[in-house]
Amino acid sequence: MCGIMGYVGSSKAAPILLEGLAKLEYRGYDSAGIAVFDKDINIAKAKGRLQILSDMVDGGEKIEGCMGIGHTRWATHGEPSDVNSHPHYSQNKTFAIVHNGIIENYLKLKNELMEKGFKFVSQTDTEIVANLLEYYYNGNILDTIIKATSRLEGSYALGILCQDDKNNFYAVRKDSPLIIGLGKGENYIASDIPAILSRTRSVYMLEENEFAIISSDSVKIVDSNKQPIEKTVRTINWDVSAAEKGGYDSFMFKEIMEEPKAIRDTIHPRLSDDSIVLDDITLTKEQLEKFNKIYIVGCGSAYHVGMVGKYIMEKHLRIPVEVMIASEFRYCDPIVDEKTLVIMISQSGETADTLAALRECKKRNARILSIVNVVGSSIANESNDVIYTWAGPEIAVATTKAYSTQLTVIYLIALYIADKLGKITKEELKQYITALRKLPDQVQQVIDKKDEIEALAKKYYQSSNVFFLGRNYDYAVAMEGSLKLKEISYIHSEAYAAGELKHGTISLIEDGTLVVSLATCDKLFDKMMSNVKEVKARGAVIFSLAKEGNKAVEQESDYVFYLPDTFDMLLPSLTVTPLQLFGYYVAKARGYDIDKPRNLAKSVTVE
Ligand code: F6R
Repeated sequence: MCGIMGYVGSSKAAPILLEGLAKLEYRGYDSAGIAVFDKDINIAKAKGRLQILSDMVDGGEKIEGCMGIGHTRWATHGEPSDVNSHPHYSQNKTFAIVHNGIIENYLKLKNELMEKGFKFVSQTDTEIVANLLEYYYNGNILDTIIKATSRLEGSYALGILCQDDKNNFYAVRKDSPLIIGLGKGENYIASDIPAILSRTRSVYMLEENEFAIISSDSVKIVDSNKQPIEKTVRTINWDVSAAEKGGYDSFMFKEIMEEPKAIRDTIHPRLSDDSIVLDDITLTKEQLEKFNKIYIVGCGSAYHVGMVGKYIMEKHLRIPVEVMIASEFRYCDPIVDEKTLVIMISQSGETADTLAALRECKKRNARILSIVNVVGSSIANESNDVIYTWAGPEIAVATTKAYSTQLTVIYLIALYIADKLGKITKEELKQYITALRKLPDQVQQVIDKKDEIEALAKKYYQSSNVFFLGRNYDYAVAMEGSLKLKEISYIHSEAYAAGELKHGTISLIEDGTLVVSLATCDKLFDKMMSNVKEVKARGAVIFSLAKEGNKAVEQESDYVFYLPDTFDMLLPSLTVTPLQLFGYYVAKARGYDIDKPRNLAKSVTVE
């Protein structure tokens, strides 16, 4: 989704804005622009890659001025074009703004402004905000921003320059992310941490309806009554190199390579010899005993993590677990109450549907426990409890290391609750803890065999259909494997519960169709092999994933990738990595832009 960067200080703003925007490219965009205050506000913007804009302004050197705002746009209202790109001036160029989000009542406001004689040059909802500022402008910029934003319905993070203030720029947010970076003699705003990570590690997380007035040596934050708000400075301890490609050809590949570390960082601090230590959550045993239902809610890959969670939690906790896609859940009048535990999963912590689903549950007094990667993000802030994944910044659009760390947090939660409720013995728990400790090294062992996956990808990269089959948690991982392949290689693929295929979809299997069979679940292995036989008899080529030592799988498979042995429950962590690698190698063989697949954005902050 759109990316915002803002700077004020003593250096030339334009190169810094471009540098920050480059770090936000991963969010997905189709045009870019900057506005810099010199004597007037000068805007440069262009459809297409950031490089086009950068070339236009000589890397920013052509533009004078030490304060500015920048934007990468992911089109919602109006096609990607030069004129629809941000920043947008107000009619008389008193204001220039950048915006992330969607103004839902923009048509009503546009008509109102047109009746007052305002003219619009773009098709965007953002230009309405610029003109609304102009309309309400009474010489006091802050008052004007407070008044204008009170008219907005929808979501917005805004960076605002005003022709009458050469020292400050302004920011406000509602339902779209924005952080403020604190430097020495310079300050920043950004949609996400990587944009400013090489410049500062001290940030304020701007919260809902907070207004910021930012100059080179001060950041003032007030509420809508202009009352000052005391903010806590957060220190970001992400490694700068984690947000850089560091010699790899893509962020996606780099992030898969980082999985062992990300998993280790996420689980090891939460393991003692004989218990799972979740200091981050405040749920008591009494509260846990009260829950009669668990919902797990997320979008895309986060939803797939929830699917794994359902199988694991129902088995170990014997509590019904329902997994819901957030965009459906938010509108289904969910039946949740104080006896429901709702687990929200989100890498970004800003996904609009997940956030809205969370709010629906809060209204109904459900207890919200979130699994989030970005510290201080909206979902984290609004939850009763948060367990952070320590995956570090994830830049590639297709999630890999964040998915893998989310899975491990699901294991931790399941074991933690099982222990608290006495559903597993201390001895069993100890064995799981030993297995969890080994998991990062086992993922590394899988990665070390990546050449096998590359060879297979090179053979099948021209497939037009690929099927992923599994049962139980293998089915849940099959869904993720299928998503990984289709989103970056644009090959049609489907994931099916293996027993379901013959109820219709098996008619799509023909000679040479690649079928990926996830056959790690011991107790269902024979059933799985029966399903594999069915597709093989119809000409499918079978690529199986199975536990080390399982020779039986070879009889039915054309290719087998062996996984290190562990508890069934932990196997999804080992099965998913080869599937992520398969998606990556196929997309690479097809010559696609792996980190920025077509039509996709990293952080989906609109509905
Ligand atoms: C797929 C992918 C998406 C995200 C989904 C949720 O590779 O990355 O399906 O998982 O958009 O995003 P978060 O986790 O940020 O809420």
